Amino acid sequence: MNENDSEKVFILLSDEYEPTFNPEEADLILINTCSVRKKPQHKVYSEVGRYKELKNKKKELILGIMGCVAQQEGEKLIHKLPYVDLVLGTQGFYFIKEALKILKKERKPVVITELKPNFKPPLIVSENYSFPIKKVSAFVTIMQGCDNFCSYCIVPYLRGREISRPPEDILKEIETLVKTGVREVILLGQNVNSYGKKDKNLPDFTELLRMISEIEGLWRIRFTTSHPKDLSDKLIKEIAENPKVCKHLHLPLQAGSNNILKKMNRKYTKEDYLAKVEKLRNLSPEIALTTDIIVGFPGETEEDFEETIKMLENVRYHEIFSFKYSDRPFTLAEKLSDKIPEEVKEKRLKMVHEVQERITREIYQSYVGKEVEVLVEGPSKKSSNFLMGRTTTNVVVNFSSPRLDLKGALVKVLIEEAGKHSLKGRYLETLKS
Ligand code: 5AD
Ligand code: SF4
Repeated sequence: MNENDSEKVFILLSDEYEPTFNPEEADLILINTCSVRKKPQHKVYSEVGRYKELKNKKKELILGIMGCVAQQEGEKLIHKLPYVDLVLGTQGFYFIKEALKILKKERKPVVITELKPNFKPPLIVSENYSFPIKKVSAFVTIMQGCDNFCSYCIVPYLRGREISRPPEDILKEIETLVKTGVREVILLGQNVNSYGKKDKNLPDFTELLRMISEIEGLWRIRFTTSHPKDLSDKLIKEIAENPKVCKHLHLPLQAGSNNILKKMNRKYTKEDYLAKVEKLRNLSPEIALTTDIIVGFPGETEEDFEETIKMLENVRYHEIFSFKYSDRPFTLAEKLSDKIPEEVKEKRLKMVHEVQERITREIYQSYVGKEVEVLVEGPSKKSSNFLMGRTTTNVVVNFSSPRLDLKGALVKVLIEEAGKHSLKGRYLETLKS
């Protein structure tokens, strides 16, 4: 979502600025920030520090901070880092042009951190969309904010209440992206499957998927993130039946123990979760699942943790993202006692990694010898004569090919080898271009 927010800022500024990969050359540096855990929040300070030097050399350089840390810290950032010119929160960044005007006129730092519950994110599209290079797969934010208040999570406090963008804007945005050569969209939201729930006039998420899949020239639709409690039978059926919807679902479990899930305010049990996985796999046997796991939530016992491991073994995810619990301001979990010592969290995270590494290896191995459809994203970073793309199950494939100008094509690839985080194969034929 941050990447997509940065792209929006880029489009907003594209009549005045050009992108550069060299900070020394920049007239404006805007650092987008994450606050979901302590570590990325702290990274902001070292990152901004690096650019302070540049500002010393070039007084007119404008230095700004946007995103969740900007939202969280607001004015405090200006006091801590007096050389910062702009602090633009999670809705504030949309006003970058206005902020620059004020900055140039008043010559003092501009802070925009207001969060409006009825905020309407503007439609920002450009047919010249080309940052940093022309893309085959693009993000499209369909909703902002979150109403779920999981007890460990800072997001609802920093991104505000859930707001669904109007379908007309979403469709217009995707149609414009398709004109620039985009073939796949990744719909973004903190909880995409509650899209439209708060407004009777809006379609629900499944209906939105159907509307999007009517766009000609768009071949694939992905979305993230789905909250397990809101994963409806209607959506499960749509995933199975809509050929444009990719057979991959990111379904954050967070923990395997019902006791911890309750304390996390996740509103499902592990049994509810497993029942949904079964339904998904009944209708889409090839579907790949991925998940997020938090280890060391306050009060997590060895038995609770064992339940998480059992769920990994049981569900057999393609990949997982796992994190040590991190205390966040404003959250309920921060106020809980029974915090887990760092070394225990470390040990549990290591165990999760080991178990998952084995499962991923086994799953990736099962692709060897199979023919898969790959949407080509561009040259492979691994080898100069290889191309890179993804399967519908979101697995990265690097493959040799007699032709290297296949970016944006859908091709058939024979998988010959499984790596730790990707597959290796050989081009067979072009299916669509
Ligand atoms: N500590 C650790 N991980 C967290 N996440 C969210 N909040 C925290 C926290 N306080 C993780 C969750 C979420 C992912 C985006 O980040 O797993 O799904
Ligand atoms: Fe955070 Fe839970 Fe909302 Fe996800 S659903 S953003 S974890 S509060």
